[in-house]
Amino acid sequence: MLQRPRRNRQSAVIREMVAETTLRTQDLIFPLFLTAGQGKAVPIASMPNLFRFSADKLLAEMEACLKLGLHTFALFPHFEESQKDKYGSISLQIDNLYLQTIRQLKTYFPEVCLMTDVALDPYSSDGHDGVVENGVILNDETVEILGNMALVQAQAGADIIGPSDMMDGRVQHIRQVLDKNKFQHVAIMAYTAKYASAFYGPFRDALDSAPKLGDKKTYQMNPANVREALIEARLDAAEGADFLMVKPALAYLDVIKTLHDAFDLPIAAYNVSGEYAMIKAAAQNGWIDGEKAMLETLLSIKRAGAKVILTYFAKEFATKFRF
Ligand code: PBG
Repeated sequence: MLQRPRRNRQSAVIREMVAETTLRTQDLIFPLFLTAGQGKAVPIASMPNLFRFSADKLLAEMEACLKLGLHTFALFPHFEESQKDKYGSISLQIDNLYLQTIRQLKTYFPEVCLMTDVALDPYSSDGHDGVVENGVILNDETVEILGNMALVQAQAGADIIGPSDMMDGRVQHIRQVLDKNKFQHVAIMAYTAKYASAFYGPFRDALDSAPKLGDKKTYQMNPANVREALIEARLDAAEGADFLMVKPALAYLDVIKTLHDAFDLPIAAYNVSGEYAMIKAAAQNGWIDGEKAMLETLLSIKRAGAKVILTYFAKEFATKFRF
């Protein structure tokens, strides 16, 4: 036998040396949930070890993460039902909880790289990512609002705008609005191939943002499709996106790989709430080794071609492995 592949697996040193994929804290974005009040860390039942933080607690959490070398966060706000309306109007009020907190945390921690969320669902009385009229999600009317939302978030200090809504043409509109207002330096991470997925359940619990009627299948992609992701990616790249994101990650590793091979923009993947919940639930039952499952999961997403991973495991990874 001239070839014995086991020779390159015989020690930890050799295995590390020939490892084709590595994980670093710098590859990760940590999604965090913001809620009103003070001194609050409300546990999220379906997402063990994760909380909805009031602004003061959020700052403390970020400080702890910064010490671990974790610098990039995606922030999602929780609003009360009574604050929501059809157009998500509160999203544009510059003294709302979200924008106020963004300004505050960028003042405290200028070194934080902050990704903000652009979509109507946290603010919408219909629980949809766009404006609903007679059961139909209106595209162009929604895109107008999304542009304004991106602008107020950039003014508050966002570094990366994350349109998570899947309306057609929103990346271009957001890019134009940002540029017109001298925010050329603010990046856009497009949710490019975002699928209508069962794996968002725990996130919608965390934000009370589930659709009141129907589902999101007229704007989020059909899990059956991968070629369609190329159409979305072509559009987002042409419209000025700086990152192309695939979401969820695990059931869509082939989509990550496809976009990675076809585009030279960095590919991001969102390791979503349901994917986190599954591993945590099984680990809590003693059915799998949670730490090993976390590492294998994150590694698989990178191996598929993601440069950046949004993951609820970010802090745990940084705590246990640092670099
Ligand atoms: C909605 C949004 C969702 C997530 C991020 N932004 C849920 C949805 O589309 O209903 C899900 C993230 C997760 O599950 O971790 N704009």
